[in-house]
Formats: sequence, structure tokens, C-alpha cells
Amino acid sequence: MTGIPFDGIALGCDYNPEQWPRSVWREDVALMREAGVGFMTLGVFSWALLEPEPGRYDFGWFDEVLELLHEAGVAVDLATATAAPPPWLTSGHPEVLPVDAEGRTLFQGSRQSWCPSSPVFREHALRLVGEMARRYGSHPAVRLWHVSNELGCHITKCWCDVSAAAFRRWLTDRYGSIEKLNDAWGTAFWSQHYASFDEVLPPRITPTVPNPTHQLDFARFSTDELLGHYRAERDLLRELSPAVPVTTNLMVNARQPDEDYFRWAPEMDLIAQDHYLDGRLADPRAEQALASDLTRGVAGGAPWLLMESATSAVNWQPVNHAKRPGELLLDSLRYVARGADAVAFFQWRASKAGAEKFHSALVPHAGADSALFREVVGLGAALGKLGEVAGSRVRADVAVLFDYEAWWACDLGSHPSGELHYIDAVQRWHRAVTELGATVDVVHPSADLSGYRLVVVPTLYLCSDPAAAALAEYVRGGGHVLVTYFSGIVDENDHVRLGGYPGAFRELLGVRAEEFAPLRPGETVTLDDGSTAGLWTEVLTASDAEVLARYADGPLAGTPALTRRTVGAGGAWYLATRLDESATAALADRLTRDAGVARMDAPLPGVEVVRRGRYLFVLNRGDATAVVPARGTDLLTGARVDACVTVAPGGAAVVRKEV
Ligand code: GAL
Repeated sequence: MTGIPFDGIALGCDYNPEQWPRSVWREDVALMREAGVGFMTLGVFSWALLEPEPGRYDFGWFDEVLELLHEAGVAVDLATATAAPPPWLTSGHPEVLPVDAEGRTLFQGSRQSWCPSSPVFREHALRLVGEMARRYGSHPAVRLWHVSNELGCHITKCWCDVSAAAFRRWLTDRYGSIEKLNDAWGTAFWSQHYASFDEVLPPRITPTVPNPTHQLDFARFSTDELLGHYRAERDLLRELSPAVPVTTNLMVNARQPDEDYFRWAPEMDLIAQDHYLDGRLADPRAEQALASDLTRGVAGGAPWLLMESATSAVNWQPVNHAKRPGELLLDSLRYVARGADAVAFFQWRASKAGAEKFHSALVPHAGADSALFREVVGLGAALGKLGEVAGSRVRADVAVLFDYEAWWACDLGSHPSGELHYIDAVQRWHRAVTELGATVDVVHPSADLSGYRLVVVPTLYLCSDPAAAALAEYVRGGGHVLVTYFSGIVDENDHVRLGGYPGAFRELLGVRAEEFAPLRPGETVTLDDGSTAGLWTEVLTASDAEVLARYADGPLAGTPALTRRTVGAGGAWYLATRLDESATAALADRLTRDAGVARMDAPLPGVEVVRRGRYLFVLNRGDATAVVPARGTDLLTGARVDACVTVAPGGAAVVRKEV
């Protein structure tokens, strides 16, 4: 990974000047200076105006904008402009349009209406990329290439005939022979045996449950296809503009499982991430913290670039909440605390027309004479004081294992409970541990675990043999691990590991379940330590583990719910049910103390503490003043911190600790 090519912790933004007359551009640039903007993302949706007809380009207006920004000292993250094909392409070549699982074509009239496997789309896109790279590839303002935009934001998969052929090629590469595919997909079931690759279709709509491994492979194929598009643009950019790093903006969050970003990361020069608070969640900022920790995991621990977020409300949720005064700064620092080396937004000026006209921006409809723009200026000033944080790495004692493939497989249909969702377990455990003031990495099961004091494995339904072996090795080396219910159940082909659950971890944990016993929505059970649990239980025996808690009521009364197996200096805990929030918090408290994790001794509700290099971030979104032990200097105020930093409700501190 290369470093973020902007200065300090830069403030950035998507800039769409084509929506405004030239007279506004000059005012824009003056306001950008006032806000201390470091970079602008340009050209994301400019294709139709840059290439008004096939092969005829109009770069004049774009040259002007680039010059204006350059003169103002604003660096440019230059998009390849291929995110939204112009109407001449989709009407002249309707074969580029995507098709859904039911065979419906998705037409032009919004954006991203292209099939990831379309060679026709690829050819037109690469022609434009070539023009862009030749014209701007050595422009002094251009510091970063931004391929397309949020690949997979709307179209993650396509079921058209072109995609079907590409899928068959992908399967041929993966399996080599049709018999291997038949084994992997378990096609002896329901007369699904294939005689040749030519018979295979994408998993289009079927009379009843489609083959799960077929679906899993289609998910793998689909992320590879979009990644293939990214790679094609990147390769051309590298050839024509070798000095400028290349990225694309990912969507790492708890809503979008479709792209396996662990596959994407090695192809990117740096990790860029878009994140929007989701007002539909009970605690949107807990999800923000998880998404940020996972982004860092995808980046292999390196600093990353927050490419988009919102200054206030978005426009695409059922009800779009504006931020309260002060929240913009705190929300932005949450990303920086968790490894972001830039904070950027969609978009500079709120649109007057179009689908996103009610989306917040840096300059709202009210204009620069507004509370929001003043907050933006304040944010620019605050980030300006944090320049020295750039490049430092977050230091976590705890890892939460996370795998997109496990997410895909766990959430397929026909499982013991349709109420069990992979991401729920991940969110619950990430939140419980971070609320203690512990810093958490969210990493792939293949990551090096040796530096962690505690590893949490929430509902890792699908798990490979090497990942299970690495976890066992980690515990043998003195590590502490917590595995939760419905983990280690299947291999990469979604085939059940036989002999009892949780197959992959049975030996490590010293337990064995013969049956699952999921609960009805709203049904709960009590444990003999007083905890309440719901959703899921298992008919479990502890063959080689200490039983820490048993069910106190219900059909499984007297049988184990929580166990621990001591392995040398380490320990392997198994939780066979879904504890409620307070019991999850209590268990997280016990585990982190047991494992000697750095955390707050007496955590305060709403107070976030994150360790990033020498810097201690304290963000207080609670109702009470936070007093946190630290010694050094608060970069935001310049004040000396002698023994404790005091942070008022709604406030933040970034303490450079004395070494
Ligand atoms: C992102 C997208 C932006 C804008 C934004 C609105 O998904 O990249 O172009 O649409 O959402 O929240």
C-alpha cells in the first residue's frame, strides 16, 4: 500500500462543477480555501459531457476546472468518469444493460446501468480512460486516480447471457473438470448433475431453493467480475500514468456484503472507503466504528482514505436525519481515530436538480452563510491541527475475525433459523468490546493473529481448514479466543463438517453439539449465571471443557451454554447462544480482563477511546463529562494534559502521548 497522497489529514470532497455555471466555480474555489480543503474528487459522473458522442471529446471545461483547483492549491483525485454510461452508449448498445435474476433489463435513466461482464461496455470505458490518462496523467494537480465509482453500489451481479458465458469460463478455470464442479456443488442432490459446463446458468429465479454452492460461486464470480473491471482500468492507468497511484472507493459497511474486499485490497495502491451513517440502525455510530475497523483490516492495518461521507443528512433512507451541531466534527474524528488519513464527503455543493438534491453537502442550499458551512470550516481547521497523526497505525489488542464468504454462506436460505444473520453477531461483539474502551481490529481469518491478546470469532459459519488450524495454533501459543454459536459448520464448498458441531472448532473448544435448537422470535432462555439469551441454542455436551454457564430453563435446562477449555496459558471459550446486550457486555468485560487487554478500567457510556500510534482519541458522545487517564498534549486545543484529559459531552480530544 502506498501512503495517502494528500497533505496531513486532508479535508476532501466530490466536486461536480458541471451542475453549475462558470460564475459559481470561482466562488467555489474561494470557499474551498476558506474551508481549508486539501483535495477534490473530480469527474465521477462526467462521461456524458466529456464524451458527448462516441469518440468526440469535450475536455475544454474540464481543463478549466483543473486549472482553477490547481491555482488554488487544491489537489485532485481524478475519477476515470466511467461510473455512469451516457445515454448514447446504453441506447446504441442495449446489450451493455444489466439484467436481474428474473430476466428484467435495468434501463438507463439513473446510473451504473452496465453489466460488469460486458465487453462492449469495457471497450468504451477503456477508450475514455485512455483519453483521460493521456490528457491528465501528468497534470501537477492530479495525485490519485479514482476508478469508476463505488463498483457494486447498485449492480453487484448480472444474470444476462453475456454474464452467463463469463460465469461458465470462471467455473471452468476454478474447477477444470465438470466432475469437480459436481462434487463441489453436491449436485447428486435433486438431480442437478451437470454433463458439461455449457449446461450451467447463473442462479436465475428457480421454483424453490437454488443450490447453495452454486449461489456461493456466483457471489465469488460476481465480485471477481467487478474487480476485473477495476483491474482493466487500473492497468491502463498504470501504463499511461505510472507516477499516480490508483484506487477506487469501496463500501465497507454492515449493509453491503456483495464485494469481498479482502480480494480487492491486493489490487489497490491504497484503500479508499465511502461510509454513510445508517439512521435505521439502533446505534449508527457503532456500525461506523465497525466499518472503519474493518476498512483498516482490509487495508492490512495501513492508513486509509475516507473518500465519501455526509456532512449532514443523506437522501436515500426512509427518513433522513440532519446531524446535530458538533456531530460533524465528532463523526469525522471517529474515522481518523480508526485509521483514516483524510476525511472527504459527497459533495461540495448541494445539487439544485436531480435525484440527490436533498443530500447534504459542504455548501448547502442555504449557501455559505449557514451553520453547516461554518461547521465545515471548523472541521477543516481541526483536521489541520492533526497533520502529524497521518501515517500512524492503530494499535489493537483484540481482533474480531470477519469473512465475506462466511457472510454470504451464513445468510443463504434453508438454514435452521432465518432469524440468524451473520452481521448481527459481528456487530454485537465488536460493539461490546469497543464500548469497554478496547481498540479492535476486524481482520480476515487468514490474518496473523500472534500480536493479539484476544480473538473473537462471531458466528463464522464457513471456515477453511487452514483458518481453523491457525486459530488452534494461536490458542496453543497462549492466546485467548471466543467462538460464538453456528461457527465452523461448513467448509468453503458449504459442505457440512460431519461428526458434530461446531465441526472446525470441536477439538479446539472441547465441545460437541448434535442438534441446533433455534428459538422463536421474542423467545428467551435464562442461564444459571442470570444471563438472558435468545435466537439460538444448541444441544451441547462439553467433552473436554469447563462449563461456565448452563441453561436454567427451557428444554435444554441443565446443559452447557458457555464453556472454556484451557490450553496451556491460553483459553478457548465457546458461547452456544446469543446473549442479550447486557450479558454480552458482561462477558466481554470478563474476557478482556482475563486476556489483559488495554481498555478503560471503568468505561463510561458513549465515551470512545481509540489508540492510534502515539495518539489517544477520546470522543464523548455521552451525557457526562469524561475523564480519561493520559499524559501529553491535546492536539485540538494545544493544552497540556498532565494526568487525565477531561472531555465535555459532545467534545473530543486527541492526545499526543509522551513516550
Ligand atoms: C454514494 C455515491 C455518491 C452519492 C452518495 C450519496 O453511494 O458514491 O455518488 O450518490 O452515495 O450518499
